[in-house]
Order: sequence, then C-alpha cells, then structure tokens
Amino acid sequence: MPLSQKFGRRRSQKRWKVLKFRRQEKMANFKRTLLAKIRDHSAIVGVVGLGYVGLPFAVEKAKVGFRVLGVEQNPLRAEKVNRGENYIRDVKDEELRELVAQGLIRAETDFRRVGEMDVIVICVPTPLTRNLTPDLQYVERVTREIAQRLRPGQLISLESTTYPGTTEEVMLPILESSGLKVEKDFFLVHSPERVDPGNKRYTTRNTCKVVGGVGPNSLEVGVAFYSQTVEKVIPVSSAKVAELVKVFENTFRAVNIALVNELALLCDRMGLNVWEVLEAAFTKPFGIMPFWPGPGVGGHCIPVDPHYLEWKAKELNFNTHFIALAGEINRKMPEFVREKAVRILNRLGIPPSKAKILVLGVAYKRDIDDYRESPALTVIKLLQADGAKVSYHDPYIPRIQWEGMELESQPLTEELLRAQDLVIITTDHSSIDYAWVVENSKHVFDTRNATKNVRTNRERITLL
Ligand SMILES: NC(=O)c1ccc[n+]([C@@H]2O[C@H](COP(=O)([O-])OP(=O)(O)OC[C@H]3O[C@@H](n4cnc5c(N)ncnc54)[C@H](O)[C@@H]3O)[C@@H](O)[C@H]2O)c1
Repeated sequence: MPLSQKFGRRRSQKRWKVLKFRRQEKMANFKRTLLAKIRDHSAIVGVVGLGYVGLPFAVEKAKVGFRVLGVEQNPLRAEKVNRGENYIRDVKDEELRELVAQGLIRAETDFRRVGEMDVIVICVPTPLTRNLTPDLQYVERVTREIAQRLRPGQLISLESTTYPGTTEEVMLPILESSGLKVEKDFFLVHSPERVDPGNKRYTTRNTCKVVGGVGPNSLEVGVAFYSQTVEKVIPVSSAKVAELVKVFENTFRAVNIALVNELALLCDRMGLNVWEVLEAAFTKPFGIMPFWPGPGVGGHCIPVDPHYLEWKAKELNFNTHFIALAGEINRKMPEFVREKAVRILNRLGIPPSKAKILVLGVAYKRDIDDYRESPALTVIKLLQADGAKVSYHDPYIPRIQWEGMELESQPLTEELLRAQDLVIITTDHSSIDYAWVVENSKHVFDTRNATKNVRTNRERITLL
C-alpha cells in the first residue's frame, strides 16, 4: 500500500474514533444532566393524560418537588386541574389544590410545551376495538405529537398497559422519525402502572414499580426517575418484558376470577353455596389465594388487557387458551345474573316484564366511582330487554350514560326499596347498610356476598 494511502486511512480512522468519542461524550452529558435534574428534582415532568392513572401520578411527583406539566386533551379536566379542583377519588382535594397554588402542577390541552419537559410520562387509554383487538390510536397520536417536538436529553416513559412490543415496535420508530436516536439522544422505557383505585393499603408509593428500558442508558435513567417516588423499583431487561409483566398480572386475575365464577355456575346447579365453599377453601394457609365470584369483571384493565396479549400471541401463531376461556366465562356472568334474577322473580310469581328491579351499585368494584365496562350495566340492559322497570342506586355514580342508556341514581330510601320486586346487589360498596336493605326489601339477589353478616331475614336473600 502506498504510504500516502496508509496515512490517509489512519487519519480517517482517527477522525472516526474522535467522532465516536464525541458522540459518546454527548450522550454521557445528556444522561448526566438528566440524572442530576432527576436527583435534585429540578427536572420538569410532563404527564400526558390526566385520568385515573395520570392525575395521581402528577400529584405524587409534585409532592416531592418536581414541577409537573400535564397535557390533557379534555379541556374540562385541564381547566379543573388549573383551578385546583380534583376529579379523581384517589387524589386528595386539598393536596391537589395546594400543589396547583404552589405552581407545581399545571395542565395544558396541547403539546406546545413538550420541549420544556425533561421526562414525559404517557398515561392515555389503551382500549379494545369491537373485535377485541388492541386500539393503540391514543398511544400513537400522543407519540407523534411528542416526536414533532422531541429534543435531545429527554426521557419518555409509557405507563399505559399494552402488548409486548408496543414501546419498541410502535413508539420507537415514530420517535426516531424526528431524526434523534434512542440511547444516544433520548431515553425510552416502559413502566406499567399498577395503581389499584380505592386501595388504601397499597398506593403508588409502596407498590413496587417495574421498569424496562429500550437499552441500558434508558433503563438507568428510568430507574432513577421512578426511585424518587416509589419505595422499590424492579428493573427488567427490556421494555417488552415490562409490558408482558403487566398484561400477565391482569391475565392472572382474569383467569382466577373466571375459575371462581365457573365454580359459582356449578354450585348453582348443585344447590351449594359457592361463598361457603370458597371461604372454607381459602382457610388453607398455602398453595391457594382468595378470588371471589361476581356478576362479571369490569374496569379498564381485567376485561381488556388479557386480549392485548391474546392478540399479540396470535401474531406468533400461538393460541392463549386460558385467556380465551377466562374471557368467555367472565363475559357470561351478567347473562347468568339476569337468568337467575328471572328465576327468582318466577318463584315470587312476578313476570319479569312486570317487575320493578333496583340494581344496587354500578361501579365495577367496591368504593370507586368508575363504571367503565361494569357488568352491572349489562345486567341492567338485559333486564330492560326483558321488559323489567330497572332503576339503580350508586353512592359514587350520580348518572350513567352508556350505549344509548341514560339513568340517574335514585336516592336509597325505604320507599324506594319497598317499591321494588327485587333488589340486585351488583357492587358491594362499604357505605351501604345491607341489613337495612334486606329489612326493607321484598327480596335481595346478592351477587357479591355483601349480605354475609346479615343475620335476620335470610329467607329474603338469594346468593349468586
Ligand atoms: N385505571 C386503572 O385502574 C389503571 C390501572 C393500571 C393501568 N391502567 C392503564 O393506564 C392507562 C390509562 O388509564 P386511565 O384509567 O388513567 O384512563 P383514563 O381514561 O382515566 O385517563 C386517560 C386520560 O387521557 C386523556 N387523553 C386521551 N387522549 C389524549 C391525548 N391525545 N392527549 C392528551 N390526553 C389524552 C383522556 O382525556 C383521559 O383524561 C390505560 O392503559 C390503562 O389500561 C389503568
């Protein structure tokens, strides 16, 4: 090789090494700067979607001194936040008011201020389409908005529940279309939210948080960020693992609930009390854990998330039999409640088409105000289709609007109860005096074992 060519090659190798070193140095600087801001809480935290997950999250971060900039597309919610008015039960009114007054939380309805944010946490809905396939329109829209304003040195975290691969296969290409590269210019993690609305014992602070990064730099920054407000952070090897952890957790619940629901259907045939069977079974101190039957499953998670996994598995030509079966059994439960209600009415000599029925509790579970996917709604719809006059009471839900149905919660009075042919307990809110309900009702169909401690008038109660 001629000497000039040899020197030329060495020079370009040297230049390449210098460039590489500079790029690494730049990335290390981004990381150092962001880590420092996270650790001294001067980082500005963006929260996209201020709903059941996003608003409590914003409050937790602001409580330790981070400035939080929310992006909420619903202008009514954004205005409320900016007035310091709370609309999520798990958030304390006075805490939100105080943090807004201190200038620590502010909500916008658009993405103009993304550039100011150091960390951007996405908490938007991940529903299903009518065909039970993932509907990622919210995640994709938000990611596109962020990509248009992405700047070097930002951390993006997806908290919405989704199928394994969403962060890397759906979000990452959109974010990199900005020209910036993950792990070099920005950081990307998935950290699934585990909040259990209404749970007083386990809050976001004392519930371990799983974090999976798209690479080691992302993981390091993500773990540092979550460690500021969560007692224990569990790092996992990838965003995909973190995504699978969450959908598995909810699949575990869906399958176990389906198992006890199936037992309830069998006990109905056998003339046995399913609650008695389960209570005795759960006295075993090992190898079993309590799950309870009911009128079906509801909320944004249990009826939805397993189907995200089912859909992804199908892409790999793999059938998730447990998920399909659990979904089938759980979705059957409202129909079973209707069928058993009709049996009770027939026994009482009342044709269902002439019956007056009160549905007690429409929230999908106890002591919360969320009726998304609530099985109580399907129960109402089915009984209305039978011609029954159905009203409802729920202390947390003043009105429901769902699939063309509009109803207002009726005040729970002796007169209301006495006017009914049947009261169906669909949600066991703890503020209700069930002995009083039974005392003043002709008959109560209890799908939650809420009347467990009612000692008198037991003949007026039918259990699921
Ligand atoms: N609710 C729970 O108990 C719970 C628990 C764990 C995980 N999750 C998951 O967290 C995610 C969010 O659930 P949630 O219950 O908080 O939903 P939510 O409907 O209560 O809140 C989502 C918020 O995002 C807003 N939003 C939608 N699109 C937007 C956009 N383009 N820009 C800005 N804001 C937008 C909505 O207006 C709404 O206020 C879901 O993936 C859910 O599965 C929920």
